[in-house]
Amino acid sequence: MRMPMCEACGDSGNRDMAVEHVVVRSNDRVCEGVGLMVLEAPATASKVRPGQFVHLRIASDREFMLRRPFSVHRAHGGTLEILYQVLGRGTRAMSLTQREDRMDLIGPLGHGWDIPDGLTHALLVAGGLGAAPLGMLAEELARRGVAATVVMGAPTGERLVARDLFERVARRVEACTDDGSAGEKGFVTVATHRLLDEGGFDMVYACGPEVMAKAVAGQAFEAGVACQVSLERLMACGIGVCLSCVVATVNGQKRACVDGPVFDAREVSWDVSEIPPRH
Ligand SMILES: Cc1cc2nc3c(=O)[nH]c(=O)nc-3n(C[C@H](O)[C@H](O)[C@H](O)COP(=O)(O)OP(=O)(O)OC[C@H]3O[C@@H](n4cnc5c(N)ncnc54)[C@H](O)[C@@H]3O)c2cc1C
Ligand code: FES
Repeated sequence: MRMPMCEACGDSGNRDMAVEHVVVRSNDRVCEGVGLMVLEAPATASKVRPGQFVHLRIASDREFMLRRPFSVHRAHGGTLEILYQVLGRGTRAMSLTQREDRMDLIGPLGHGWDIPDGLTHALLVAGGLGAAPLGMLAEELARRGVAATVVMGAPTGERLVARDLFERVARRVEACTDDGSAGEKGFVTVATHRLLDEGGFDMVYACGPEVMAKAVAGQAFEAGVACQVSLERLMACGIGVCLSCVVATVNGQKRACVDGPVFDAREVSWDVSEIPPRH
C-alpha cells in the first residue's frame, strides 16, 4: 500500500515509501544485547538506498502502536538486514521474534548518504551501533570502485559489530576499543585524527554517538574534507508530520525523518542541536 504524501508540508523526501507486510527470515544474537534480524521485504529491499531507514511495527497489539525507526544495514535478494541494540520494550520484543513471525514496516524512509561522482577514497567512521547504516554504504562504495577505510569503535572487541562485512569490502579497517581488547585502545577520534592528517580522503561518513559525530565533523572540517553524519532523533510519525525529530541547522530546523537522517556536517548547528540519549 503506498502512503499518501502530505500536501501541506510539500515533502520532497520519502516519495518511494509504502507500507510493506514482512516476514522474519532469521533473528540471531550478534553479541550481548545486539541482534541481527533478516526480513523478507522485497518491495522495500528493491528501492532502499544506503543510509535510509524503515519504521517498523514490531507487533500488532496496542503496546506497539508506535513504530520504531531502524537503519537498513544491508539489502539483498529481497531481504533487509536490521542490526539492532536491545534498549527498551520494543527492541526487547524484537529480540524474541522468531522465523516466520510477521510485522509491517513503512519504508524506505529518509535522505541517505550522498555518494558524489568522482569520489576516490572515503573514510567511514562507526561508533558502536553506528555501524548499522554504514554497512550498505560500504558495499555500494565497493561496487562503484571507491576505496573505503573504516574506523570502528566499541567498548570491547566482541562489540565491534559488522567488522566481518567491513573487512570484506573495505581497503582497510581500524578498530578502537575502550578496554584495548581489540585494535587500538581508546576513542575512534584518535584514529580518525591520525588518518585525516595522513590525507588522501575526499569524503567522511560518520554515525555513532553525537559527541563522536561532532568531533569527527570538526576534524574533517580542519582537514578540508567534506563530511556527512547520520543523526538519530526520537521519532513518532517518521514521515515528516509530527516534528518530534527536529535537528537544528544553519538553515533552520530540519526533520531528521525526511531531511535526514543524513546531513552535511557543515549544515548542523552542533552547539544547539539536541543530543539525545544514545547507545
Ligand atoms: C533514523 C534512525 C535509525 C536508527 N537505526 C537504528 C539501528 O539501525 N539500530 C538500532 O539498534 N537502533 C537504531 N535506532 C534507534 C532505535 O530506533 C531505538 O533504539 C529504538 O526505537 C528503541 O526502541 P525501544 O522500544 O526498545 O526503546 P524505548 O523503550 O522506546 O526507549 C529505550 C531507550 O532508548 C532511547 N531511544 C528510543 N528511541 C530512540 C531513538 N530513536 N534514538 C535514540 N535513542 C532512542 C530512549 O530515550 C530510552 O532511553 C535508530 C533511530 C533512528 C531515528
Ligand atoms: S518523526 Fe514526525 S516529523 Fe519526523
